[in-house]
Amino acid sequence: MDTVFLGALAYLLDDPFQRSAALEIIERGAIRVGADGRIRAAGERRVVCAGLPSDSRVVDYGDAWLLPGLIDAHLHYPQYYALAAANRGLLSWLEQTVFPEEQAFSSQAYAARVADALVRRLLGGGVTTAVVYGSRFAPATAVLFDAAKRHGLRLFAGVTLMDRNGPGPLLTDPDSAWRLCETFYSRCQDEQDLHFVLTPRFALSCSPALLEMCGEFKRRFPDVYVQTHINENREEIDQVGRAFPEAQHYLDVYDQYGLLGPRTLLAHDVHPQGAELRRMAETGCVVCHCPSSNLFLGSGLFPLRRHLQHGISLALGTDIGAGLHFSVWNELSEAYKIQRLQGVGLNAAQLLYLVTLGPARALGIEDRAGTFKAGAMADFWVLDPTNDPYLCERLDRCEDAESPLFTLIQLARHHCRATCIRGRIVEQV
Ligand code: GUN
Ligand code: ZN
Repeated sequence: MDTVFLGALAYLLDDPFQRSAALEIIERGAIRVGADGRIRAAGERRVVCAGLPSDSRVVDYGDAWLLPGLIDAHLHYPQYYALAAANRGLLSWLEQTVFPEEQAFSSQAYAARVADALVRRLLGGGVTTAVVYGSRFAPATAVLFDAAKRHGLRLFAGVTLMDRNGPGPLLTDPDSAWRLCETFYSRCQDEQDLHFVLTPRFALSCSPALLEMCGEFKRRFPDVYVQTHINENREEIDQVGRAFPEAQHYLDVYDQYGLLGPRTLLAHDVHPQGAELRRMAETGCVVCHCPSSNLFLGSGLFPLRRHLQHGISLALGTDIGAGLHFSVWNELSEAYKIQRLQGVGLNAAQLLYLVTLGPARALGIEDRAGTFKAGAMADFWVLDPTNDPYLCERLDRCEDAESPLFTLIQLARHHCRATCIRGRIVEQV
C-alpha cells in the first residue's frame, strides 16, 4: 500500500551555484511513497494524487514543510557532552575539554547511552545522514553503528585514529588500527546504509607510520571513505609545518600518504593556500565547512567563494562538540552570516543545497538521499511553523516563492515535527 504525505515541498533538482532555477518549491505538494520506502512521485498534489488507489494512506501535514533529510557531514560522537565549553582556541580546547571526555568512551555502557541519545537527537533535528568521528574504542564505535541501524540513521563513521600528541588511553598503533579498521570495513560491506570511514584524526595526531597504514588501507580498499581535519587554525597549521618539514603545505601531508580522492572529506579548511585548493580540486576531495565551530573556537571565516571558484564540492557539518547545535539546519544561518562578513550573499537555494543534494552528490548517495526524485529513499523531515505565532505572521508577509524558505532557515530552530526514514516516521518530536 502506498502512503501519501501532504505539505509544502522545497528541494533541489540541481546545483544552485551553477544553475539559477535549481530549487523546486511547491506550496500544495505531496510525496507518494511505495511499500518499499522509495519515492514513487513528488510534486504538485493534484498531479501526485491523481489516480491514487482508494486504500492509500494519507498523512496530511497541513501548512508544514516537507524537506529532504538533512546531511550532517562532520561531527564527533564522543564529544556529545563537550559542547559549549569556554576555550582558548583549537589546540588547548582539544587538551582541556575533548581528550578527557573522549576517554569516558572506554566504558561501553556509557558509550551505548550516548550513541542512542545522539542518534535520536540527530533524527529529531531532521538529520537522516551523518558522517561521524567514532570513538577510539572499538566497542564504543560498534554501539554507534548499532544505534544508527536500530533507528534508521544513514551513518558514515570510523574509529578515531591517533598515535601521538594525546593521552595514552586515546592512542593506538598502526597494526591494531589496521585490524580495527578492517573489522568495521567488513561489517559495513553487507549494509546499504552503514559506511566505514577511515578516520586519522588530523596530521598532528598521527605519526608517519599511522598515516602510512591509512594510505595502505586505502590502496587495499579503494572504495573506502576517508575523513580528517585540515587548515582549521593558524597555530595548528604552524605546528603541522614543523612536524612535517618536508611537506609543501598541510594538504601535502595527506597527499604524500595517498589519502586524497573523491571519497575524502576534509573538515574546516578555513585557511587554505591556492596550491592546496588546486590540488583538492584535482583529486576531487570534498571540503566540509563547520560554521558554528569556526566561530566558537575563533578559527576564522571560511572562504567559500574561493572553494567554489576552484570547483570543490562542499558539505556542512555541526562539528559537535565544537559546534553548538545538534541539527545542521541551525548551521545554515551561521554559514550565511560568515559569508555576509566577507561580502558574499547566499540565497535559500544555495543554503539548502549545502545540507541536502550537495553532500548527497559528494558522498555518492544522490540516488538515495538529498532530493525527492522518484526512486530515491523517502527520507524527509517535517518543518512545522504552525505552532509559532510570530513565525507564521512573519511568513505571511513573504512576497515571493523563495523568501519563506530563507526566513525559515534564519528563524526556525526547534520546529522539526517529525522525521521520516524510508517512508516510516521514526521520531515524533
Ligand atoms: N582537529 C583535530 N581534532 C579535532 C576535533 O575533535 N575537533 C575539531 N574542531 N578540530 C579537530
Ligand atoms: Zn571535527
